[in-house]
Amino acid sequence: MIGELNQLRTDALEQLAHIWDDGALEAWRVKFLGRNGLLSTTLSKLGTLPKEERPAAGKLANEVKQALESAYEQKIGAIKQRALSESLEAAPLDVTLPGRPIQRGRLHPATANLRELYRIWGDMGFQVFRSREVESDEMNFQLLNIPPHHPARDNWSTFYVAHTNQRVLLRTHTSPGQIRAMRELGRNGTVPLRVVLPGMCYRYEQISARYEIQFNQLEGLAIGRNITFADLKGTLTEFARRMYGDRPVRFYGDHFPFTEPSAQMDVQCIICDGAGCGICKYTGYLEILGAGMVHPHVLRNGGYDPNEWSGFAFGMGTERIAMLKHRIEDIRYFWGNDLRFLEQF
Ligand code: FA5
Repeated sequence: MIGELNQLRTDALEQLAHIWDDGALEAWRVKFLGRNGLLSTTLSKLGTLPKEERPAAGKLANEVKQALESAYEQKIGAIKQRALSESLEAAPLDVTLPGRPIQRGRLHPATANLRELYRIWGDMGFQVFRSREVESDEMNFQLLNIPPHHPARDNWSTFYVAHTNQRVLLRTHTSPGQIRAMRELGRNGTVPLRVVLPGMCYRYEQISARYEIQFNQLEGLAIGRNITFADLKGTLTEFARRMYGDRPVRFYGDHFPFTEPSAQMDVQCIICDGAGCGICKYTGYLEILGAGMVHPHVLRNGGYDPNEWSGFAFGMGTERIAMLKHRIEDIRYFWGNDLRFLEQF
């Protein structure tokens, strides 16, 4: 038995030395170490030995078993190592080559621009208020002093999405958020408000370099007891200074049904510095927003008594603002999903 075990060890190790692939290694394991392998078969004969021979034979059997098992483990590592070296030699690896750059995501320029606006308005004491994109005709128009059939509706070519007890539409501007902010935050018209309302607006437009069918607006609303047109001018001038630096601004009379009086604000053209160019149509200025004192009807619709409260509101197209800042020529780039454009920001 002792001789048999020694022979088994010699044969097994000798055969193992020539094995260099996984299939042969597995066959070797089954043959020598498997449940019905040679080692098991030999061990099963241990009980037939005379009693005094058993301890020595048992001890040797254990040693052989351990020797084969550890040789087997080592062989697994050696086969892996050899395969690696072979593959490295077959296709040499240049570890000094630079790695492939990892593409990192980033904010969409429209989002980054909105966040910059929140920061500026946040610093000036305005809180962000989010309002819905699907609106009722009442909110989008009627409560803003634009009754059915009012000619001003032509300014907002509308996508209607349903007709329940009233028409349901995609908001054409962020102004309906004024009513919602007054009603939700105003505590029945008893507290002052300072909010900005961002979000997507939709208009049934002919798409062009300056007009999209969807675009972001940022609305602003300040309500207080003694708010005047001077506050409107001062606040918006300060906003332009923070956004565009020390550039002249100017106010023009305008008309919106929900503000009275109404104005538009222009900032000096950042392309030609006021000298006149194709972008500013040789006026030296570019329009950036519409604004005005909140109309008494609108204040009342929001729950405020216009005899005690007043306020100003403004609305700007934020992609247009970003276009000016980054000299982007065509608004269609924003939703075109062209990485060559998006990666520049
Ligand atoms: C309004 O929508 C008013 N609600 C703004 C307002 C708010 C006035 C509060 C007074 C008080 P207007 O239609 O001019 O106004 O749009 C405001 C801005 O949205 C425009 O100056 C422009 O920058 C942007 N805008 C309008 N239509 C489009 C469009 N089709 N594509 C891209 N931007 C647009």
